[in-house]
This record gives sequence, C-alpha cells and structure tokens, in this order.
Amino acid sequence: MRLLFSTEEIKEKVDDLASQIRGDYQGKKPLLVGLLKGSFVFLADLVRALDQPLEVDFVRLSSYGHGTESSGRVRVLHGLKTPVRGRDVLVVEDIVDTGHTLSYFLESLARRRPASLRVCTLLDKPCRRCVPVTIHYRGFTVEDVFVVGYGIDWAEEFRYLPAIYALEKAECASKTSSP
Ligand code: XMP
Ligand code: MG
Repeated sequence: MRLLFSTEEIKEKVDDLASQIRGDYQGKKPLLVGLLKGSFVFLADLVRALDQPLEVDFVRLSSYGHGTESSGRVRVLHGLKTPVRGRDVLVVEDIVDTGHTLSYFLESLARRRPASLRVCTLLDKPCRRCVPVTIHYRGFTVEDVFVVGYGIDWAEEFRYLPAIYALEKAECASKTSSP
C-alpha cells in the first residue's frame, strides 16, 4: 500500500473546499447529500469545516460489486428521503471514477427541480471517465489507481485508515472482482 495523501494534506484540502463552499452558499442552507458508504468520513469532516447552517441526507447507490471495476449499472439501495424541490443541493462524493454513479444520480435529482445542484468530490480519477460529469468542488486528482482509506474501502476493508492510500495491483488481485 502506497501513501497518496496524509491526514494533514486531507485536512488542508477539506478546509480549502469548505471555504470555497461557504463563500458560494452564503445566506443559504444547502442540503448536502452524501453517497454512502464511501463519503461518510469526508462528509463528516466537511460539515464540521463548513460550520454553517445546512442539512444532511444520504443515499446509497451501487455500481461496484466487491471488486475494483465499475459494472456500469447503478442500483438504488437507499433513496433520498428529503424533498429537494427548491433546495440548494450539494452532492458529496468520495471519488468520481467512470462517472456512471454520479451521472445517474444527478439526472434523477435534476428531475426533482432543486434550486441549484452542485457536486463536491474529494477525489477525481478523470482518466477513467466514461460519462461526463461537472464537478464544482474537487479535492485531489488521482491517477488510475485503486484508492482506500478515509472512508473509502476495497471490498469493505481499509475504511478505517485515517490517510488515503493506493492499493497495489497484487493486493487487488488477492480477491476476485465481481461483474
Ligand atoms: P463510478 O465509476 O460510477 O464510481 O464513477 C464511483 C464509485 O465507485 C467507487 N470507487 C472506488 N472505490 N476505490 C474505492 O474504494 C477506488 O479507487 C474507487 N473508484 C471508484 C466509489 O465508491 C465511487 O462512489
Ligand atoms: Mg462513493
């Protein structure tokens, strides 16, 4: 496992994202929607850094099995319960890879007529993009590596790591990926 971003670097980045977001949502009460499970640590740190009135809700979508490749199919495991019509919605994602998950979710949100709809992601893997998605707040850009830690898992492992690491190919190969 190779260290990509230390806890200090992550904290600096989260503070930086929070100040951009705070500036853009002054006098507003945005609804932050976290995509479970991977974004839960990032979202928790982000809301504390934001330190402004906001609401939080979560959805759980799945485009990954227990492997490292996106299936391209998105399933809703737990939908959004908070009404979004007229709300300033900020979707909070851990990592945007192919873009399938986010583009599917953004389309379904847009149909519900929010006042505004933006995306904040801690990590972006643009080299893997299949579907274009607009990212308004981007933390770090990463190469085509599988990342773990800071809430992000590989087959439910490594979420507890406080920093972000790249998983080496051999480590990924020790479990088989599902379609
Ligand atoms: P797509 O391909 O739809 O994928 O943009 C987005 C979701 O896939 C997960 N993902 C990862 N999870 N390490 C992970 O642990 C990774 O390198 C990685 N890349 C994508 C992630 O949950 C994201 O929400
Ligand atoms: Mg995710």
